[in-house]
Amino acid sequence: MPSRLLFNQETIDAGRPKLSNYHAGYERWKKDPEGFWADAAQEIDWFTPWEKVFDPDEGVYGRWFTGALCNTCYNAIDRHADGERGDQPALIFDSPVTDTKQSFSFKDMKVEVSALAAVLQDSGVGKGDRVIIYMPMVPEAVFAMLACARIGAVHSVVFGGFASAELATRIDDAMPKVIISASCGIEPSRVVAYKPLLDDAIKIARYKPDRCVILQREVQPCNLTEGRDIDYAEAVASARATGREVPCLPVAAIDPLYILYTSGTTGRPKGVVRDNGSHMVALKWSMWNEYGVKPGEVFWAASDVGWVVGHSYIVYAPLLHGCTTVLFEGKPVGTPDAGTFWRVIAEHGVVALFTAPTALRAIKAQDPEGVLSQAYDLSKFRTLFLAGERADPDTVKWAEGQIKVPVIDHWWQTETGSPISHNPVGLGMLSVKYGSSGVPMPGYDVRILDDAGHEVEAGTLGNVAIKLPLPPACLPTLWNADQRFREAYLVEYPGYYKTADAGYLDADGLLFIMARTDDIINVAGHRLSTGGMEEVIAEHRDVAECAVIGIADEMKGQVPCGFLVLNAGVARTPAEVEAEIVALVRKKIGPVASFKIAVTVKRLPKTRSGKILRGTMQSIANNKEWKLPPTIDDPAILDEIAAALSQHGIGAWGPSNGV
Ligand code: COA
Ligand code: AMP
Repeated sequence: MPSRLLFNQETIDAGRPKLSNYHAGYERWKKDPEGFWADAAQEIDWFTPWEKVFDPDEGVYGRWFTGALCNTCYNAIDRHADGERGDQPALIFDSPVTDTKQSFSFKDMKVEVSALAAVLQDSGVGKGDRVIIYMPMVPEAVFAMLACARIGAVHSVVFGGFASAELATRIDDAMPKVIISASCGIEPSRVVAYKPLLDDAIKIARYKPDRCVILQREVQPCNLTEGRDIDYAEAVASARATGREVPCLPVAAIDPLYILYTSGTTGRPKGVVRDNGSHMVALKWSMWNEYGVKPGEVFWAASDVGWVVGHSYIVYAPLLHGCTTVLFEGKPVGTPDAGTFWRVIAEHGVVALFTAPTALRAIKAQDPEGVLSQAYDLSKFRTLFLAGERADPDTVKWAEGQIKVPVIDHWWQTETGSPISHNPVGLGMLSVKYGSSGVPMPGYDVRILDDAGHEVEAGTLGNVAIKLPLPPACLPTLWNADQRFREAYLVEYPGYYKTADAGYLDADGLLFIMARTDDIINVAGHRLSTGGMEEVIAEHRDVAECAVIGIADEMKGQVPCGFLVLNAGVARTPAEVEAEIVALVRKKIGPVASFKIAVTVKRLPKTRSGKILRGTMQSIANNKEWKLPPTIDDPAILDEIAAALSQHGIGAWGPSNGV
């Protein structure tokens, strides 16, 4: 494999070490994990220090910083607001879809967050109570997260692209006292009214919140529900007028800061829990050591606060580190053009951008020669970070050619909260091969296991697992579901956390993440469960059986494709049912599922024991070589599948090509 372009680090940042300290840092952690994290924890202000850095007897696999008291909002906001960074911009809001630019200093943030915290308290929210945040990419979403942290409440942000039924599932699981939402979100092609989605979700949910705090947006205000809803701006203004101080409440380091639901192998999402103390320690450590960014610099994660990247690298890590963070309400293309990212970088002096490869592919499709980037002064820009899906070498090489800065692929999951593998900029970059997501970070003992749980040789593909205990910032458990946590992650390979990713470590210790081992697909950097989609499709009265697989898509990486077997005697045409199925998935899961392909087939291919052969269908659809599974019930079905796909312009047509 070709070696990655090597950059002269001196020209990038004179302060960065010339020889990488990575290996020494990793060894230091391996020899003394507790000493390593105790040192990192010095960067955080604690109300009460820990009794134990790591207590193996607490929680499911142990807990970090037990006995300590701290507050995440204090470390992210107050200590900067009350210190020398008070007037520095903490958050820059850039919204091409509303033509708005706003800057909030750390002092401004403290005022906004305290006022909203007072509103929450007046609504009966106290320590440990849950608050769901269902909002577009507006500063108030960030204030809401921090206001919860301030008073020890547990936030759960739900991505705006999810529909009512998904929101309802999360309401029932988290049981929030309050929901903070907005009248609408703005997509390039349309205004998305959030209020009807919220009302519908509350109607569907068994659990009902006491109150909803609604941000009215000028673009499309909404009616408030009497007795339940209050106006965000009015409530905050009156809280501010009283001048009431809401101090940061000391909470245990092991208390939950938030729950973030992520796709599991069924329609029921998993409530990933994040603690306060270890989360701060790991995120603060990552900002310099992994991302090479200094306090006071401008960092931009072009994600959404509804995803883990948004939680960690729009909100918490940059603010904990005293950086300015950019909140961008727009898309890489179409708002208004494929030069938007470069405009934001130039205009706000961004030193590092974190995005998903799909965003670059979208830009590349519209501006392959990179003409638009040349119009902007990118002299402050040092590094481009990619995660969320595998960074394909073509896209990485294209980006390197356009913007002349290192393009770094790194790998992590909602569950871990910060990178598992990386090419650490602050510690000193290594020469990493294309297609690799770097080397394991301190804290992560990554092993590749065969299906029986034995380690495989370098270069052999296997199940990627992490030796327990998991490091700071990783999930200690799932919300109210210790047993589900054990079953989903810890049981299959005793002593390890199962990542559900497949990959290999090469002889140089570089990690390559190749695919998921479960039913999760990655659509435009969004993690989705095909099992969840199958549950929705199976509800349709005309569907006897179904299967959903991910098929390759040039821009989004993968998109879902549903196969339907209709009940006998259905009067309507397959095309009519297919259209209904597409609409149903959009209604139940949301537009984010990008479910646009439904294919009616006579039968689904199965093993003799009745297991649907999704892997083989996926190979056919993706034009990959495939072998006839020896346990297949009836091989002729595979040709029927190929023919049906071919009619939709997908995959290879012809007899079983790999037999
Ligand atoms: N609220 C409501 N609807 C939303 C939404 C939100 N917050 N986010 C997305 N949607 C809708 C979109 O409008 C689209 O609807 P449509 O089917 O009517 O067109 C649908 O959900 C699918 O959205 P998306 O997958 O984002 O496709 P897109 O064509 O709008 O944009 C990209 C494609 C590549 C530009 C976009 O997905 C992108 O920027 N991806 C980066 C991903 C990312 O940041 N991931 C986080 C990990 S780092
Ligand atoms: P999420 O929890 O939404 O962040 O999605 C996590 C999943 O996205 C991982 O388990 C991987 O399957 C995939 N993923 C994230 N980053 C990368 C990467 N750099 N390379 C390959 N896959 C990735």
